[in-house]
Amino acid sequence: MPSKLTIPDLNALVEAGTPLTMITCYDYPNARIVDAAGVDIVLVGDSVAMTVLGYPNTLPATMEMMLVFAGAVARGCQRAFVLGDMPYMSYQISDEIAVRNAGRFMAEAGVDGVKLEGGRAMADRVRAIVRAGVPVMGHLGLTPQSASAIGGYKVQARSGAAAIALLDDALALQEAGVFSILLELVPAAVAEIVSSKLEVPTISIGSGAGCSGHCQIYHDAIGMFEAFQPRHAKRYAQVGQVLGQAMAAFVREIRDGTYPGPEHGFKIDREALAAFRACADGL
Ligand code: KIV
Repeated sequence: MPSKLTIPDLNALVEAGTPLTMITCYDYPNARIVDAAGVDIVLVGDSVAMTVLGYPNTLPATMEMMLVFAGAVARGCQRAFVLGDMPYMSYQISDEIAVRNAGRFMAEAGVDGVKLEGGRAMADRVRAIVRAGVPVMGHLGLTPQSASAIGGYKVQARSGAAAIALLDDALALQEAGVFSILLELVPAAVAEIVSSKLEVPTISIGSGAGCSGHCQIYHDAIGMFEAFQPRHAKRYAQVGQVLGQAMAAFVREIRDGTYPGPEHGFKIDREALAAFRACADGL
């Protein structure tokens, strides 16, 4: 059985020049697949609200939902470092609520750490959670939980001032104790400079090649999310198409009588059947 990756293991990979791999995941069978494939960090993202539950954004994800998904993923990962994504309003309100919810992720779902969105304004939250013994990944750039406040789902840190503010946020998170920072939709050159100023590894999602690792949304990577395809997402399979073909064959075979065949049924012994027939005939 592969041994569980720890934060020192992740840092050692980065030190050795091996980019970290990170993917989102939301259930047990897919967690087993990504874990066996060698993904280093598995994020149970609040993107589950969109990819799995069909909501238009991530805000409807709740702690109760996230604990169910996170528990399933944690049970499926023997090697990968599993992160629970703190959902909207599970940490913004107070340090106390943030620590309690981070602790629930650890104790009830069995994850290895949590991720939360926001920079300097969230530094106290990060500090409190880390002090409680829970590893935290920061998340800067496009932070979907505050999409309305930051002008929608668009590339961030495109002006000099915004890039400096991003660097300041990253340094504040590092100082507060994060073990890594996810940079979402930040210009590649900005992400590279920010990464070079930090001691903790950065993970890019749509932020170019200059980070310490790379993340994708699972459903984008496997071709299972049809609503839209972000420019940074690369499809490694057309799983949606394969599933569609399988279900079309299922419907066709039932309708044309190919399925079920005798090999899919179960037998009863002759005397028992005769007794049953006699009884049924009398009804
Ligand atoms: O919820 C999520 O899936 C995320 C992605 C940006 C990785 O936070």
